[in-house]
Amino acid sequence: MINDLASPLPGTGGRAPRAHLRSDAPRQVLDGTWQVRSFPTPRHVTDDDQGIWSPVEVPGHLALQGIGTPIYANVDYPFPMDPPFPPDDNPVYDHRLEFNAGSDVLAHPSVLRFEGVDGAATVWLNGVELGTLRGSRLTTEFETTGVLRAGANLLLVRLAQWSAHSYLEDQDMWWMPGIFRSVTLLARPRGGIRDVFVHAGYDNGAGTLRIDVDRENGDAKNGDAENHDVEDGAEATISVDGLGDFTPGVDHLLPSVRPWSAETPYLYAAQVRTPSETVNLRIGFRTVHVENSTLLLNGAPLLFRGVNRHEHDPRRGRAVDLDTARAELLLMKQHNINAVRTSHYPPDAAFLDLADEIGIYLVLENDLETHGFVTEDWHRNPSDDPQWLPAYADRMRRTVERDKNHPSVLIWSLGNEAGTGANLDAIAIWAKQRDPERLVHYEGDPRSLHVDLYSRMYATTGEVERIGSFADPDEDEHRRSLPFMLCEYAHAMGNGPGGLSEYQELFHTYPRLAGGFIWEWVEHALYEIGGRPVSLYGGDFGERVHDGNFVIDGLVHAGKTPGPALADLARVFSPVGLELAPDLSAVTVINRYHALDLAHLEAVAVVDGVTTPIELPSVTVGAQVVVPLTLAATNGPVIISLRRRAAGDGCEAGHEVAWVQHVPHRPAPTLTSVPLRLGPAVFDEHTGMPVRLGELDLHDVAVSLWRAPTDNDRGTGWEEQDLPPVAVRWANARLDDLRTRLVEFTEDGDALVVRTRHGLPVRYAGVAATWRWTTDGTALALDLSLEPYGPWPCDWARAGLDLRVAAPARQVTWTGYGPGPQYPDTGQGARYGTFTASTDDFAVRTVRPQEHGARVVDDALIDLGAASLRVLGTDVSLTVRPWSRATIAATAHDHELPDATETWISLDAATSGVGTASCGQGVLPEYRLTPSPQRLRVILQA
Ligand code: GAL
Repeated sequence: MINDLASPLPGTGGRAPRAHLRSDAPRQVLDGTWQVRSFPTPRHVTDDDQGIWSPVEVPGHLALQGIGTPIYANVDYPFPMDPPFPPDDNPVYDHRLEFNAGSDVLAHPSVLRFEGVDGAATVWLNGVELGTLRGSRLTTEFETTGVLRAGANLLLVRLAQWSAHSYLEDQDMWWMPGIFRSVTLLARPRGGIRDVFVHAGYDNGAGTLRIDVDRENGDAKNGDAENHDVEDGAEATISVDGLGDFTPGVDHLLPSVRPWSAETPYLYAAQVRTPSETVNLRIGFRTVHVENSTLLLNGAPLLFRGVNRHEHDPRRGRAVDLDTARAELLLMKQHNINAVRTSHYPPDAAFLDLADEIGIYLVLENDLETHGFVTEDWHRNPSDDPQWLPAYADRMRRTVERDKNHPSVLIWSLGNEAGTGANLDAIAIWAKQRDPERLVHYEGDPRSLHVDLYSRMYATTGEVERIGSFADPDEDEHRRSLPFMLCEYAHAMGNGPGGLSEYQELFHTYPRLAGGFIWEWVEHALYEIGGRPVSLYGGDFGERVHDGNFVIDGLVHAGKTPGPALADLARVFSPVGLELAPDLSAVTVINRYHALDLAHLEAVAVVDGVTTPIELPSVTVGAQVVVPLTLAATNGPVIISLRRRAAGDGCEAGHEVAWVQHVPHRPAPTLTSVPLRLGPAVFDEHTGMPVRLGELDLHDVAVSLWRAPTDNDRGTGWEEQDLPPVAVRWANARLDDLRTRLVEFTEDGDALVVRTRHGLPVRYAGVAATWRWTTDGTALALDLSLEPYGPWPCDWARAGLDLRVAAPARQVTWTGYGPGPQYPDTGQGARYGTFTASTDDFAVRTVRPQEHGARVVDDALIDLGAASLRVLGTDVSLTVRPWSRATIAATAHDHELPDATETWISLDAATSGVGTASCGQGVLPEYRLTPSPQRLRVILQA
């Protein structure tokens, strides 16, 4: 049998929650190969040993090891909403492990610790029921003293996929049952250290320290976490390296300590000892508080340059190993990210040690979300139903108790998208009382009553500005006293997010704005199970309720390779602002660090490929200094770059932290015409379009105003809720189906002039095009004017031309902006220079194919194998891909795109921004492409 699946109550039998401590007491890790058998429903479960047992790796998700399948759903529960009942269709998985207990563990009382079991489980050791597990991403410890025995032991974990608690775990991610974090036996020596609570504050050079110690009393029974008897610790001794010895439970004032911050993650090693156990701690002194509606750390304003991080690996799901987590944190640091919201549950405990050490601020979120109830207008929402209060309290308590000693944790978050209600109020009040030294966050309650920050997700820049400047009439006095943060913004789905700079500018302008957290860090694609590393998303596993690719919305791909947005983000998040005087006589340097001056950075100018040092004066935090420049004369671009003098903060020596570039005006290139027929080109008199250039056959040359919709084009911007998504507006207008009519084909002096009209089917709307072709005998110059006519029903995606070549491209070399792509509201990380990219890198492949990869070029050489095509112009938006936009738009997964046999090239005079309407603000007005006259001047040479 399996217990209480319909009970809203917390799990049973667990000890009082406590911190994960680095103890010298013996432990035995039970990870490895376990055996598993499945039952289709709880009613099928038998207690005998029958059935087929197969090996499974712990930690791991069953569905990623061929047992069951993953389900991706965002808001919707993939089962009937009938709380607290789970559906009958509820697979149960018995996990068993036979092991010999080590004599060192057996020499003491002991506990068995589970750190993450996705689903609801009952646990037996040697046939004795230890209790039940609820709270998939939370730790439970069971007492095993007297049950654990010498010689062979048998551990059985009976795990049901669904339970009442599934209603509390509706996070936007894969549902994947399994024991996905470590299982450990821990010796608990009598008189040892049950728990420790470090309170370490910082104020102007001085520190405060109190360490509460809670001793094991030897018969570790179900404790009560409220029973923190400080006296218990009286016999324990505490020493902190470099600071001396301390008495447990006593407030100490330290005249001089080094502060902890993400920029200066200084940790003091400490030991708490009793005769039977030693615990090693790392203490960071820091104080977080709110004053004048401003978030302060160690007395100075704090700006979160954050990301939301889920634990995700494309083969291992939420079983993310430590090396991967460390690499993720370093990648964040290298891109000027200073904060993580652990969306939407506490991560693996070891992640917190890394965050302390590497220096990342954390908003540590409880494992709680009931978003699906929004479908029923929040009726029956557990957040406001007293029968669920014990579960809420239990979850919050386990979250806080486990991670309370980490300086990186500045804020506790009650959970995500759980509506409003008395249970949330209760856990907010509890968290505040248990840990008054941290702030409490919850976004979902518009009253912001028991929280320390006003938090929103995806608010538009207009609204953020109103909030920052206290101009929002809806705010009452209480809310006005709170700093503001965006716990989610800038939805990084597909091509985008556009508009990052506009948010950042607001954060720099209004002290009330404490920054925010991009949604999200990593894409949750899963690789084909047991097969190729092709990226799959919702619906690919036969799910009947799913949300497609809405889970592919990260700055880095599932395998942790960066998408192009990460380079843009690094630039936007730079802690140093640089502004070049238009005449290049000076650069203004703005120090936006929290605690550092710029002594760790050196400045250089790069002019015509020559790097020369610039003297960087001291710039204190918050200050700005004008630094005079004496640069070599040049017609080319100039870069001012700030780099690290030495390795540190997760970066190598020489790592670039900030840069600014001046790119001089470049006139459109022209050819000195000679009155030749049309030099290297052959035109088709029936269409007026070139069909051959030198040795290269050109196909399908045509005006185009459409792009394969991005995920953002398919969304509705927050401010446009009355309109369909732009992709639908384009489809309704048939923007992808422009029909061409040749008007005339004439000569005008040296030029061949072709006039065409490109109209939308059904309507009277289109563009009149004038193609003026000239040549110098070797190259072909095009001056293309586009004039809209008629009442246009939609904005344009782009304005330019397409052409096709019947050979696959090998690579593209270009002078212009790179290495990443650039749309009007993205590409902050792209700088002017000369770059080469393979066709794949140039095209920028996304899990769901869509418009991407445009580079803004002055000169590009497209290597087509036997031939090549050179394009010259000024700020021409160029795409090069093996597929037409129609093929891209019609293909659901990257791996379904046909092999490259040809090349589609587009040259655009203008493109639309991308915005972030897949969830959030649409394309800002200044980045939209409204129908308007456009001119494209290029030189083509084969
Ligand atoms: C938010 C939610 C996230 C995610 C995001 C969209 O509403 O908190 O979990 O679903 O939207 O990707």
